[in-house]
Amino acid sequence: LSQVLFKDPNVPPVVFHWFPVVGSTITYGMDPPRFFKENKEKYGDCFTFILLGKKTTVYLGVKGNDFILNGKIRDVCAEEIYTVLTTPVFGKDVVYDCPNSKLMEQKKFMKIALTTEAFRSYVPIISDEVTSYFKRTPDFKGQSGVVNICPKMAQITIFTASHALQGKEIRDKFDVALADLYHDLDMGFSPINFMLHWAPLPWNNRRDHAQRTVAKIYMDTIKSRRERAENDALDMMHHLMGSTYKNGVPVPDHEIAHIMIALLMAGQHSSSSTSSWIMLRLAARPDIMEDLYQEQVKNLGADLPPLQYEDLAKLPLNQAIIKETLRLNAPIHSIMRAVKQPMPVPGTKFVIPTNHVLLAAPGVTGADEQYFPQPDLWEPHRWFKDSPLAPSMVRNAQDQANDEEADDEKIDYGYGLVSKGSSSPYLPFGAGRHRCIGEHFANVQLQTIVAMTVRLFKFRNVDGSNDVIGTDYASLFSRPLEPANIHWEKRD
Ligand code: HEM
Repeated sequence: LSQVLFKDPNVPPVVFHWFPVVGSTITYGMDPPRFFKENKEKYGDCFTFILLGKKTTVYLGVKGNDFILNGKIRDVCAEEIYTVLTTPVFGKDVVYDCPNSKLMEQKKFMKIALTTEAFRSYVPIISDEVTSYFKRTPDFKGQSGVVNICPKMAQITIFTASHALQGKEIRDKFDVALADLYHDLDMGFSPINFMLHWAPLPWNNRRDHAQRTVAKIYMDTIKSRRERAENDALDMMHHLMGSTYKNGVPVPDHEIAHIMIALLMAGQHSSSSTSSWIMLRLAARPDIMEDLYQEQVKNLGADLPPLQYEDLAKLPLNQAIIKETLRLNAPIHSIMRAVKQPMPVPGTKFVIPTNHVLLAAPGVTGADEQYFPQPDLWEPHRWFKDSPLAPSMVRNAQDQANDEEADDEKIDYGYGLVSKGSSSPYLPFGAGRHRCIGEHFANVQLQTIVAMTVRLFKFRNVDGSNDVIGTDYASLFSRPLEPANIHWEKRD
């Protein structure tokens, strides 16, 4: 009754709930996209729900994405939300454990390191890792078999990312100590730790031990690299070792170590969830997996030469697979910000108070039929201009090979020009100040993994159907429910 009687007309409507602190935590947590869709129908694009006792205001749609993701620094704050989770895992003085201006400088260092020359060196590294993984892994021995694809993709992601971004020395340590240590670190990333991050619980003790040990491994590696005076590496660690903040201070070794952890953790879950989804989509559509193989034969040559960075641009379907999978299976379903001062919502009577958290869910516009015809259909060809399912941003793009964001307003938050994405319904990499710096790396990594896998295998669903498994929303990043078994068969 109080929810109806004491309604303040200047705040968004509150999603009906029975219990004060629990609020909508359970219905939201079980299936966030469905929760957003159902409440959008009832309340419109802007509404509030109770998440673990906190008033959380969702603002959906293109305007909502822009309002939150391009919010002014005096209005919205990411570190206030995320630091409890990330600082114990990454370590001090990086990402959300420092002023935003310092994060912008750190993002700039990371972005500058990702040159075309660096990408040219990454593609052979990634393709060799993929081939060698499938060759040596017992689950892929023989001519055919059934495998739960998710843990396999998680391993391929960590081997490829660590090798490309952090060098062979670090990559080799994943065969020994680092894999287990990262597993322990990962436990700090569970949603329960938004509340229990401080508690002396066994998994938090293991997280803290792992953080110290991993940071030391990186710092020792940095030290020995300095002693050897290596200066030709194209990995991220090497670049940070030569970077200096605007105030003239070189990036200290402990910060480089913590940035290395942050990079792998940021990329791991999102890229590995995406590659798992791609493999599952291909198992559900073996015809498209065959098209991908034929695309390589046609555009690269029947002998399928070793894959190079430049080849990726010659494989438009291979690129579209990633775009389309991220449209429907974006691993980050909710992006949150603390509200620092009352924020009027343009065009409405609402003012978001400072005791609310703002939540953007850009995946909702990615699955909206206003922008994407037959939105629930996974159809990579829709990213081609002449497809009847092409969204208007693709149909109207000047140049097909080009980014559909090309016409969007660009802005520099301190880490180079980025698209504001304020008019795009497709933002799997976010927008604004906190936008992903790993987008290009993730695309190159995923395109290479897919291209190499397609060369080696034919996939199908175990029951031969076109069905795709459901989504697990229990951890911070959404991913396929497991076991996500697929049937694989080697190409002769
Ligand atoms: C930020 C998505 C891969 C590093 C973000 C954000 C999204 C995102 C949505 C914005 C978060 C926010 O606004 O709070 C993805 C997806 C990926 C991916 C879908 C893969 C498919 C990577 C990789 C790296 C990376 C491979 C590292 C090499 C980062 C960093 C940020 C970020 C450093 C900035 C965080 C901030 O400024 O607050 N990513 N990401 N990401 N991502 Fe990614």
